[in-house]
Formats: sequence, C-alpha cells, structure tokens
Amino acid sequence: MLNKERMPEHVAVIMDGNGRWAKEKGVPRLVGHNAGMQAMKKIVDHSDKLGIKHLTVYAFSTENWKRSMEEVSGIFKLLVKWVASDLKGLIDNNVRVKVLGDYTVLPEDAVKSLEKTLEATKDNTGLQFNIALNYGGRDEITRAVKSLAKKVKDGALEPEDITEDAIDAELFTGVYNADAPDPELIIRTSGELRLSNFLLWQSAYS
Ligand code: FPP
Repeated sequence: MLNKERMPEHVAVIMDGNGRWAKEKGVPRLVGHNAGMQAMKKIVDHSDKLGIKHLTVYAFSTENWKRSMEEVSGIFKLLVKWVASDLKGLIDNNVRVKVLGDYTVLPEDAVKSLEKTLEATKDNTGLQFNIALNYGGRDEITRAVKSLAKKVKDGALEPEDITEDAIDAELFTGVYNADAPDPELIIRTSGELRLSNFLLWQSAYS
C-alpha cells in the first residue's frame, strides 16, 4: 500500500523517448509525441489522486526550436488539443496549471489556449501542474540575474541583498511566479540520465 503521508511534494518529469518509441513502431515522430501526451495525462491523474502537490513536465525546451518546423508546430498543436479536451477535467479536479518559461513567443493559438487554462484554473487548490514550455534552466537563471541587476540599478536592492532566496524568488518556480518547492524526484523517461538544462538551480538536492 502506498502511504500518502510519505509522497514527495514535487515530482518533475523529463518527457523523453517519444521519437525512439515512434521509430521502433515505424510511425511518425508526432505519433510518438501524441503517445507521450497520453502518458502525461495519466501521470497528472495519478499525481492528483496520490496527493502530490506539484507535478512539473518538461514539454518544450529552449533547444527544441532547432527541430523541424513540422515537429515543432505538431507539438504545439498537441498542446491546443490537450486544452480543448482536458480543461474541463482539470477544473473539475481542482488542478491549477502554471507555465514555466516564456510562453508568449509560442504560436498564437497555443498562447491563447494556455492563457485560457491559466485563468480558468488559477484559484484551484489541488495539484499544481507546471508545464515547462520554451524552458531552459540557464535561460531561467540568466533572467533572474538580469531582474536582480535591474533592481540594484534602480536602487531597490543592495548587492548584499542578493541571497540564494532572492535568486530563487526570481526563477519561473519562484515565489513571484509559479511558487513551487524544489523537486525531490526527477524522472526521465527513455532511460537516459541527463538533466538537459531542466531545473538546474532547483535540482541541487533532488
Ligand atoms: C522528447 O522526446 C519530447 C518532446 C520534445 C516533446 C514532448 C511534448 C509532448 C508530449 C506534448 C506536450 C503537451 C502538453 C499538453 C504539455 P524526443 O522527441 O526527444 O524523443 P527521442 O529522444 O526518442 O527522439
């Protein structure tokens, strides 16, 4: 029996291996991404039932833009499809969705779907589902450092005030943004053991 009292507070998943799965089956890569999305939906459902407070998935990295236009636009189409099919269920299950990364540069229909989801789930108090989109750990830290430098320049902060907590607060997971604790557990599907620029700061003790 699983003891709900001993569940990690935050589980993060690097969704990898969709392409290899598709290749093995002799189907297009996007079929692999679609299967990955179906697996993701099950994970959301189970995390919610297990009482996990935060689930984060690495859906699209800052490096993923290098893939073919067909693959990139196919992934965002999946995102739009997911919102159309699952938003009601997320609301019913009290799930709050947050995005890690600058999603405003995504295709317009994806941005609209995400904004609708963020707005419709913002007051929910159950599982927080963080979707990393156009996310990179180094990009996130660079943005945090820039924001702090600006505050120092504007006289709102002293250099001595740049503590670990101050940096943490500026991250996409920080208190000014998604407000998620560091993940205890990071799962990478496909069997690889690399972080690939995912939650670099937050994974110090994962
Ligand atoms: C990595 O596998 C997977 C991705 C780059 C895309 C994952 C995105 C989804 C499953 C859709 C997300 C949708 C929502 C709703 C958040 P890979 O292609 O790198 O696999 P490979 O290493 O075997 O080629």
